[in-house]
Amino acid sequence: MTLSRRNLLRMTAGGIMLAPLAGACSGVIPSGGANAETESSAGGLSRSAARLPAPFTVPLPVPPVLQPVRTDAGTDYYEITQRLGESEILPGLKTQVWGYDGIFPGPTIESRRDRKIVVRHRNALDVPVVVHLHGGRTPPEHDGYPTDLVEPGTARDYVYPHAQPAATLWYHDHRMDFTGPQVYKGLAGFHLIRDDEEDALPLPKGEREVPLMITDRSFAADGSFAYPAADPTLRQPGVTSDFVSGVLGDCILVNGAPWPALEVTNTRYRFRILNASNARRYRLALDPAPPQGPAFVQIGSDQGLLAAPVQHDRLQVAQAERFDVVIDFSAYRVGQQVTLVNELGTGGTASVMRFVVARTATEDSRIPAKLADVEPLSISEAATERTFTFARNGAQHHGMTPWTVNGEVFSPEHLWAEPALGTVERWTLRAQNVSHPIHIHLAPFQVQDGNRYASGWKDTVDLASGDQVTVLIRFDGYRGKYVFHCHNLEHEDMAMMANFQVR
Ligand code: C2O
Ligand code: CU
Repeated sequence: MTLSRRNLLRMTAGGIMLAPLAGACSGVIPSGGANAETESSAGGLSRSAARLPAPFTVPLPVPPVLQPVRTDAGTDYYEITQRLGESEILPGLKTQVWGYDGIFPGPTIESRRDRKIVVRHRNALDVPVVVHLHGGRTPPEHDGYPTDLVEPGTARDYVYPHAQPAATLWYHDHRMDFTGPQVYKGLAGFHLIRDDEEDALPLPKGEREVPLMITDRSFAADGSFAYPAADPTLRQPGVTSDFVSGVLGDCILVNGAPWPALEVTNTRYRFRILNASNARRYRLALDPAPPQGPAFVQIGSDQGLLAAPVQHDRLQVAQAERFDVVIDFSAYRVGQQVTLVNELGTGGTASVMRFVVARTATEDSRIPAKLADVEPLSISEAATERTFTFARNGAQHHGMTPWTVNGEVFSPEHLWAEPALGTVERWTLRAQNVSHPIHIHLAPFQVQDGNRYASGWKDTVDLASGDQVTVLIRFDGYRGKYVFHCHNLEHEDMAMMANFQVR
């Protein structure tokens, strides 16, 4: 997008979004249903009809950690019921959520490298569901293939061997054609993997290690989530025409709370930042910036710890990406308020949450110069090269021009790649029409563009419109069929997904 067009969009948005935090009308910033970018994200902006709270008035919730129902020598067993729940997200109003155990975000699963767990998911909702552990190195039958439905009234055991290093993963719904609405209604939670190497590092721990799930939502006047589904009963897929590029909300939630506030001590904190939004990308910064030192020291990426810490003043976080960062609040005075802002937002979406440096405390953490062993892949290892273009084109699908991979809509039968187990491939990913964050199941990759990402293993890469990026992917773990797709959930639901089969 050119600068002038971006400014124009900002002005338009600013003009329409009067008093964005206390809005009482509802509407859409029209995207014309075409290939729209709003606030540097693909999508149309839906405005809440409900009155939104003043920012930084609600405390930051932290999702509860799920306890196993049973444990034996080799395995921990968990149970989750997917059901309706009620939550007071906006003060004074009730929001119905579709939640893991009825809550949004769902309970956090904390597991350990190489320790197998089994999660029994019961579906007490009245639509089919699918559970995907995003970033998991998971056998194909437990990966949440989009058509492996858990029908209402039934249950399914998902087995996770966890043969992978410590990392911030998350689990979310992956039902074919309906992932967007089902995640929007609340089906998302953290799933952390820990290991001995990470435990041995002197990083902030306990209360000073906080997961932050950032999402944007819009609310109807009664407080319900306002997802613009073409069929609100979710029997027919799709969204109304203004939102075919993606659904953007005007209320930013962190761990399910609107623009929350967190009291911190003047010490280092570790934040596991996840963008679990359907379509919104964020560029996070601190306001005020610390008088000295970087705003963020990144220690980890999607798939775990980096080799060494990397300093950033801002973090661009696309949907499904994770940034594991340390913020050092000793750079601020006690009493100071520090806002986590979104430089891509306007009005209400320009802020995310607030930290209040409430008191002094003893510092007991450090960021070591070396974090983990990360073996860099080299292009010479790549056995095969492939190119995938993500665009909106082709014949009508569910009554609209679909989002496609190499010009094709998703078909569960078609295999785009058949990498051999244990090999590395070089894929060039290209984004057209709008931005597309691309996620590959099972196989972690390294992005061959050192300026955009700190070295480290990723599972999702953010592509701006017109971008192309090369990734080196290691296919190991399991043989079988997996998907890769755009993680703009509306694009994914409207067919921007494809298969590879590890053989
Ligand atoms: Cu986070 Cu296939 O998804
Ligand atoms: Cu996309």
